[in-house]
Amino acid sequence: MKFFADTAEISEIEELAEAGLLDGVTTNPSLIAKSGRNFLEVTKEICSLVDGPVSAEVVALDHDTMMKEAEALRRIADNVCIKVPLTIDGLKTCRKLTGDGTMVNVTLCFSANQALLAAKAGATFVSPFVGRHDDNGFDGMDLIRDIRLIYDNYLFDTEILAASIRHATHVLECARIGADVATMPPKVIKSLVNHVLTDKGIEGFMADWGKTGQTILTDK
Ligand code: E4P
Repeated sequence: MKFFADTAEISEIEELAEAGLLDGVTTNPSLIAKSGRNFLEVTKEICSLVDGPVSAEVVALDHDTMMKEAEALRRIADNVCIKVPLTIDGLKTCRKLTGDGTMVNVTLCFSANQALLAAKAGATFVSPFVGRHDDNGFDGMDLIRDIRLIYDNYLFDTEILAASIRHATHVLECARIGADVATMPPKVIKSLVNHVLTDKGIEGFMADWGKTGQTILTDK
């Protein structure tokens, strides 16, 4: 499963990229607003830090203006992936852009039928929002499971990009089901390293090593 960071904060992206934990980045208008940065500038900077897809979202609601915005966004870098909402205009824009060889992420997916439409429109990625689905009394993992089943039934190439991931258990379940990608806040990616027995093990090894009085590095 690929890991995308769901953020527009440069320092967080740099840290994860250095650790080799980043296959791409997703942003949305709320994350751009939170960053306080200019959308085009920060997207360009992010694209230079990661080799993989960087999702940048259009804000128009009609197809013609979406296409104009997508044109401006895809000029930023080759790894820009245009993010469009799951509406008829968004799907129309998706079909046109992927037909031209541009990557498209169809976002705000809350049902398996919507995901079916995104795949039929040729989306590169579909983004089902797990956490927001849970928040509204549904099971976000059932959504991922249904989309996986449907995409496998018809051999769709569209990748399932599990979004709105809130915690480590979401990540584990997505990996078990076979989501292609999970986009997560950096703190969730970093939390995956945590295990009490790892901490305890390090503590024990350090204590025993201290008793030996040895050092590995001999030259001072
Ligand atoms: C996906 O691409 C979205 O940016 C994101 O995952 C939304 O997550 P949220 O529900 O935590 O805002």
